[in-house]
Amino acid sequence: MYRVGLIGCGGISAVHAHVLGELENTELAACADILPERAGRYGCRAYTDWLTMLDREKLDAVHLCTPHHLHPIMAEEAARRGVRVFTEKPPAIDAEGWEAVKRAAERVPVGICFQNRYHPHIQACRRFLRENTYGALLGIRAFVTWNRTAEYYAAASWKGKWATEGGGALINQAIHTLDLIVACLGMPEQIEATMMNHHLRGRIEVEDTAEIYLRKGNVAALLYASTAYSQDAPVLIEWHFEQAVIRLEGDVMTVIRDGKKQDIACETDPVIGRSYWGAGHKACIADFYRSIEAGEPYANDPASCEATMQTLLRLYAQCRAAL
Ligand SMILES: NC(=O)c1ccc[n+]([C@@H]2O[C@H](COP(=O)([O-])OP(=O)(O)OC[C@H]3O[C@@H](n4cnc5c(N)ncnc54)[C@H](O)[C@@H]3O)[C@@H](O)[C@H]2O)c1
Repeated sequence: MYRVGLIGCGGISAVHAHVLGELENTELAACADILPERAGRYGCRAYTDWLTMLDREKLDAVHLCTPHHLHPIMAEEAARRGVRVFTEKPPAIDAEGWEAVKRAAERVPVGICFQNRYHPHIQACRRFLRENTYGALLGIRAFVTWNRTAEYYAAASWKGKWATEGGGALINQAIHTLDLIVACLGMPEQIEATMMNHHLRGRIEVEDTAEIYLRKGNVAALLYASTAYSQDAPVLIEWHFEQAVIRLEGDVMTVIRDGKKQDIACETDPVIGRSYWGAGHKACIADFYRSIEAGEPYANDPASCEATMQTLLRLYAQCRAAL
């Protein structure tokens, strides 16, 4: 049984606590949050100082569910103590932080919560790519159009700021989609974007909208991400292959071939928490502990995120000054 600690007991932590309680080889032993009422919310040993928790509890692993900018320092300190790390996305908001996360991974297994990689439809699509089921990939397009209001930003002071969130619609909401695109494309040769703040200008520092162009060889990927829409619409990703178009909208995957549409059904885990968090957390976390038990590298290790992180950091390097 792995004794697991959790740092940051806000919104997403509930999903981690739930999964850690469900898995047979994990137990949530201790929690840390600067707010005592949150640190105590899961009924285990509670700390308001995460370093004290790391020093006192003999943890096998720690989950990082804190604001973005804290992930690298927390990963490094855990690794220094031999504690394995499972961090929420994004693992870092700048190149220095990303290097720190990779240094931590030289000491202990580090897992990154890109849970949508475990979505059966995504796995099916990656199989189509690998096995050339529908011929070569020609292009990808994706839309992440959600709603994040001034109230959403006011509720968590770290959001909407370069220093603590590191960006907006792209790094927080559309990062999963960017990751899935880069996983299909490989490291892009051309990386270009424009970023805007349309509806919360003057209220938040970061972008509410990003338009992204990625190209590798002859394959271009287009991503439009915005939190200025009226609702959280299902994410749409479309892969254009030589012989078919595969469209994934929310949980509905459709193959469009020779003018005919056919839905592909896949079993998914039940969603825990908000619908837009998807159903992948359990599979993603379970596989982290399975890989540790098996002594195998974890699928979502930092190496597997290198192209996504390099792409993300370059996009912000290009666009941040203009916002
Ligand atoms: N994988 C996903 O789909 C998904 C979904 C939602 C959030 N997330 C990620 O989870 C992380 C947390 O997001 P959230 O929405 O739960 O945020 P949140 O603001 O609701 O929670 C963050 C918690 O961290 C605590 N905290 C802040 N500084 C701390 C410190 N120094 N020590 C201990 N605790 C501290 C805060 O008090 C708060 O309770 C972010 O990185 C976010 O991107 C991922």
